[in-house]
Amino acid sequence: MADAMSSRASAGGPGEGRPRVLIARAVFPQVVQRLRAHFEVEDNPDDTVYTRAELIERLRGKAGALTTGSERIDAEVLDANPQLRVVANMAVGYNNFDIPACNARGVLATNTPDVLTETTADFGFALMMAAARRIAESEHFLRSGQWSRWSYDMYTGSDVHGATLGILGMGRIGQAIARRGALGFGMRVIYHNRSRLAPELEAPLGARHVDKATLLRESDHLVLVLPYSAQSHHAIGAAELAQMKPTATLTNVARGGIVDDAALAQALRERRIAAAALDVFEGEPSVHPGLLEVPNVVLTPHIASATVATRRAMAELAADNLIAALTAGAPPTPINPEVLGRPR
Ligand code: GLV
Repeated sequence: MADAMSSRASAGGPGEGRPRVLIARAVFPQVVQRLRAHFEVEDNPDDTVYTRAELIERLRGKAGALTTGSERIDAEVLDANPQLRVVANMAVGYNNFDIPACNARGVLATNTPDVLTETTADFGFALMMAAARRIAESEHFLRSGQWSRWSYDMYTGSDVHGATLGILGMGRIGQAIARRGALGFGMRVIYHNRSRLAPELEAPLGARHVDKATLLRESDHLVLVLPYSAQSHHAIGAAELAQMKPTATLTNVARGGIVDDAALAQALRERRIAAAALDVFEGEPSVHPGLLEVPNVVLTPHIASATVATRRAMAELAADNLIAALTAGAPPTPINPEVLGRPR
């Protein structure tokens, strides 16, 4: 495939006017304006989530696309749009991209790492605390008018400070959550990851690399921060939940599908773990009905990176990638930089 990029039909090259790009979902108007300075832009101010057929149609003639996790870019979409040269995801996760299919066709894929790390870690920590201290559950109780008196065991949860924080997936966000736990809350940090952290990263956190069984057995509060892939599908299912402490909490700020939501709903219903907090779901925006029925789970609509500043930084970084890729610059955060060197 040495000349894959050159063999893709050209879109908006020299002499054909400015490149055309699709902004697949609504985004900050300033970012749309910025892209209009470089490209012929088709945007989506109504924020329609395109069906697959619509996405394929909207991509016709486009050299680039600014996408989100709701747009799946795979062989079928790429083959229907051979002129497409770059897909810039406004997300750090990119399981909506088939990277081997992009590679095979010389399509550059980019994501938005780093700019969301601390914001997402804040939210993961907040969710974990909400589950441990039963904040959402007790708030619902109060709002529903049921609070009539103080009692010694009302909404007793488990401590966060001094507890064992378990992290599954110790990338940038996992490390940022571990920092909060170790340095701010005196937590003992254990983690499981494909590769062990360098000693200079482990040492300040006192973090201990353990096997998955130890992580499940010893964590008081287990936080999932690993990318979704075929390998991580249902990394936490009935068998794993059965190994956790009955007092433990489980927090997922990674991706739906890493947890078997049906198995989790059952474990929560049977109080086989104390509580959970989920920002992501299998098949979202649908949520497993069993999760909606149990009180001991905090549910949020995929907002871990949602501060104004961070969403703006993500959109700008996605735009930086698109602009650089289509104007001969160096895209700051490519996922598959190997396609960049290929002749066009
Ligand atoms: C959000 O889920 C992201 O991957 O950035």
